[in-house]
Amino acid sequence: MSFYLTLFAFVAFSCNSKKTEQKDKAANTNSNIEQRVNDLLGLMTQEEKLGQLAQYSNPYQQTGDGKSSEHNDNFDEMIRKGQIGSFLNVTGVDETLRLQKIAVEESRLKIPLIFGLDVIHGLKTMMPIPLAEAASFDRTAMEKSTRIAAIEAAAVGLHWTFAPMVDISRDPRWGRIMEGAGEDVFLGVEAAKARVKGFQGDNLADANTIAACAKHFVGYGAAIAGRDYNGVDMSDRLMREVYLPPFKAAVDAGVATFMSAFNTLGGVPASGSKYLQTDILRGEWGFDGFVVSDWNTAGELLNHGSAADGAEGAYFGFNAGVDMDMESRLYVANIDSLIKIGKLKQEQLDEAVRRILRVKFRLGLFDNPYQYNDKKKEETMLLTPEHLAASRDIAKRSIVLLKNEKNLLPLSKVGKTIAVIGPLANDKDSPLGNWRAHAVPNSAVSLLEGIKAAVPENTNVLFAEGTKLINNAGAHFFMNLEINKTDRSGFAEAIATAKKADVVVMALGEVAYMSGECRSYADLGLQGLQLELLKEIRKTGKPIVLTLFNGRPMVLTDVVGETDAILNCWLLGSESGNAIADVLFGDYNPSGKLPASFPYHVGQIPIYYEHFSTGRPSLDAGGGFATMYRDIPNDPLFPFGFGLSYTTFEYSGLKISSAKPKFGEKIKITATIKNTGNYDGEEVVQLYIHDVAAHGVARPVKQLKGFEKVLIKKGETVEVKFELTAEDLAFVRLDNSWGAEAGKFNVFVGSASNDLRLKGEFDLIE
Ligand code: BGC
Repeated sequence: MSFYLTLFAFVAFSCNSKKTEQKDKAANTNSNIEQRVNDLLGLMTQEEKLGQLAQYSNPYQQTGDGKSSEHNDNFDEMIRKGQIGSFLNVTGVDETLRLQKIAVEESRLKIPLIFGLDVIHGLKTMMPIPLAEAASFDRTAMEKSTRIAAIEAAAVGLHWTFAPMVDISRDPRWGRIMEGAGEDVFLGVEAAKARVKGFQGDNLADANTIAACAKHFVGYGAAIAGRDYNGVDMSDRLMREVYLPPFKAAVDAGVATFMSAFNTLGGVPASGSKYLQTDILRGEWGFDGFVVSDWNTAGELLNHGSAADGAEGAYFGFNAGVDMDMESRLYVANIDSLIKIGKLKQEQLDEAVRRILRVKFRLGLFDNPYQYNDKKKEETMLLTPEHLAASRDIAKRSIVLLKNEKNLLPLSKVGKTIAVIGPLANDKDSPLGNWRAHAVPNSAVSLLEGIKAAVPENTNVLFAEGTKLINNAGAHFFMNLEINKTDRSGFAEAIATAKKADVVVMALGEVAYMSGECRSYADLGLQGLQLELLKEIRKTGKPIVLTLFNGRPMVLTDVVGETDAILNCWLLGSESGNAIADVLFGDYNPSGKLPASFPYHVGQIPIYYEHFSTGRPSLDAGGGFATMYRDIPNDPLFPFGFGLSYTTFEYSGLKISSAKPKFGEKIKITATIKNTGNYDGEEVVQLYIHDVAAHGVARPVKQLKGFEKVLIKKGETVEVKFELTAEDLAFVRLDNSWGAEAGKFNVFVGSASNDLRLKGEFDLIE
């Protein structure tokens, strides 16, 4: 013990002195950067300043002659004149180098461009979609995935990704739920930290790190009725307790940039909200990077009806604190005249330019503008065996076992006949997801391929598609999907195939473009003829493992009974089939937990475990009138934090360091977990609290406040430790201040939000 203490003290000391050194260095670099930013600003003309605010999307790929089809601009010439600060969707070492050279060698002040792209879950090596990765509850995996994405993005000339999306969402109808960490604040915060760290590394100026962008500020995930771009309305309390914390965590993790959101918030467009972009982000949190608008949000202020014309669009966007204008072109056209008529101040423009230049300096672009343009890296750093291995590893950690009747899983690899059936069974495209950057279409390992690669020769693997999910195969990002509702021509073959097998692995769910931007759905069950096919296969009496491909929580109420086992496989990226095979055959024991509730019925949405206590929580308490549906249960089918394992874990020995901790004191909570089953396995041990009486404010029934993913060998026991401080118990108090209230707190430790095995309490005292 004392050895550990000494070691701890030594490590703490050396970490501290190292930290102080790093801090000093950072402070020096920062003051140096501030000086250089100001010097440069002093040399800039008004046109050059406005240029820094302008971001344009790639026109070259469309026309190939340096002109945008839509606007007929000559971008090369504009760069030469200092009229462009950034591009999005321009990638590749050659093209980014060509443009950067114009900026750095042919423009008057040689200000480098910053190139951004949506690198959401990988550049060419596709990782699991962010929602899937959140299911891993594995901070290291999340950081590693974004680290690799950054290495690959930097290798193709990119400096900046529009990620992570840190929007909390409690509405699976909203297609962009796939892009975030799900419904929970604590998990959202941990994911935000890990992902910012992964993209940005330890030093933004390194050639293999890129600037991250926390988006969409804020509330986008709470679109009314789950319709993308729809308005949002919530109390300040809800915003501060649930929707802001992941953004704040991103700021604390040093995120370089923010993106404003499309939605209105309480009637004011978020991208025109000074309260959000200036008062909270800069004022309360001290963020000194820049905010980029979402696509044309200044222009969309007109559609919202909050701006009368382009000048007002520019005014409200810019005055709110949105510095860089993605594609609306309204800033360049209007800001100078708005300054001249006194509506905006010159200092505001200077400050916005300062923020943008600061990030360019931090990225090392002034000192080393071509460091991202290394042809050799572009040729050797993408899709490497190492990146693919990491993708497979992260993917298998993200899979969630939802059902395993009679321990059907893991399957034996040897001497069986396995039928792989369903429209997604040999789909090499869907696992790549909707936001796929440079991924080659149809390049993922399909489930069928993964299974075939995993089994020995004497195992017979059969395949039948059964039904098509969509009629327009190859439909992409901008196309509407035509769901097949009539063609059953593949059913007979699928049934015959199932009959020949010992076990059927069905691959059903969603294709890539059923989730993501502008992919809201009201029906969250199996689309098209998939359920019908499943029921037909069920009639064969063969055991069925459903592998579900999905970019969102689905409603599986009609589905569960038709299966013996369910693996929720999300959209797992390049190595999808291999990772699923790892889990199917027990080479990896599933350890994922749901990052968002899977509703019992669409009518329950928005649904989340962290709901408030009501005055009538039960029929008893309500005298027959309780908070309930008359036709369906209140609870989701599969709750937040739920996920099975091939082994079992026993929880015991909850210890809380003090029954009456004081504010400022660390509250240490430990629990003992034993692996009581037949497999080694990882368990996500979850800590929840409930604030029993919050002095004038109602509190949620429970809130996740910690999780640890631990590997426990069969028969072995581990002790898991958590630490809380009063800050972890803080909320918006009755007087609107942020902080904890003294009083009683229940403590729960368990395996899922509805499976809380240990219970204790403490009294927080002044
Ligand atoms: C999305 C953003 C994205 C941007 C640029 C918008 O439609 O909302 O998340 O970064 O496009 O592609």
